[in-house]
Amino acid sequence: MTNPGNRKNSAGRLLTRRRFLGLSLAGAGMAFGSGIYARFVESDWFEVRKVLLPKGKFPGAAGLRILHLSDLHWSGAVSLQMLERAFRMGLDLKPDLICLTGDFVTNGFPSEPSKYSKLMRILSDKAPTFACQGNHDVPVQPIKEMLEAGGVRFLQNETVFLSLQGRPVRITGLSDLWSGHLDPALCMDLLSEANNGPVPHILLCHNADGKENVRDYAWDIMLSGHTHGGQICLPFYGAIVLPVQDRGFVAGLYSWENRLIYITRGVGNLHGIRFWCRPEITLLVS
Ligand SMILES: [Fe+2]
Repeated sequence: MTNPGNRKNSAGRLLTRRRFLGLSLAGAGMAFGSGIYARFVESDWFEVRKVLLPKGKFPGAAGLRILHLSDLHWSGAVSLQMLERAFRMGLDLKPDLICLTGDFVTNGFPSEPSKYSKLMRILSDKAPTFACQGNHDVPVQPIKEMLEAGGVRFLQNETVFLSLQGRPVRITGLSDLWSGHLDPALCMDLLSEANNGPVPHILLCHNADGKENVRDYAWDIMLSGHTHGGQICLPFYGAIVLPVQDRGFVAGLYSWENRLIYITRGVGNLHGIRFWCRPEITLLVS
């Protein structure tokens, strides 16, 4: 004869097991759904951001429209078709100037560089296009040549002057911080010696940790990428992994040392996934 107490215990264990199984299945389903979403929905779901720069921090550049793209990461995970779609969305914003802040590829020099050069022509045919090196852009010389074959001016510790609709603009591109070759002394003026007047000075620096290297130099706005905004983020928490020392500079517009820093989440990605961190196409308007 079964003890009523034992029956109650058995029923309780059964419910606990059912509950455990149910929760496990729900968790597995959510993980599977999140993986599908991260790979096939968010990874190329571009967000177009128009960012109005505060007046007075970027003198002499009123009305200038800068298309900022970064971290294209051409690879098996990021196709040329995806990049072309991003480029055309960016060009729809009618930029005066295009700035590309590194990580053009993921796995070294590509086997079909002419295709990439042709892709770059889509941008450079529409507006002056400048670039700097990212940590994935090694070896750097063939990547520089590949981009320049597409009409992009690739700057390695170099400063150029140009006129945009009659307005002078100065652009500096630095080598990547992790390459060990970032050297502002080769191309920038010290703050203490600078006499730039109202000529706006845009600094392209892939990794915003490089701001410490240019603290004593004259510039107005630094454009960076590198973080991918975290790429995999959690709601109410943020990025799980960030490849930077200063985790206070992840994505968006910052004021630093009386100057501006803009960090984009980037266009491409690593490993074909993004979660809670959509790829970004940015128009900065001064
Ligand atoms: Fe990157």
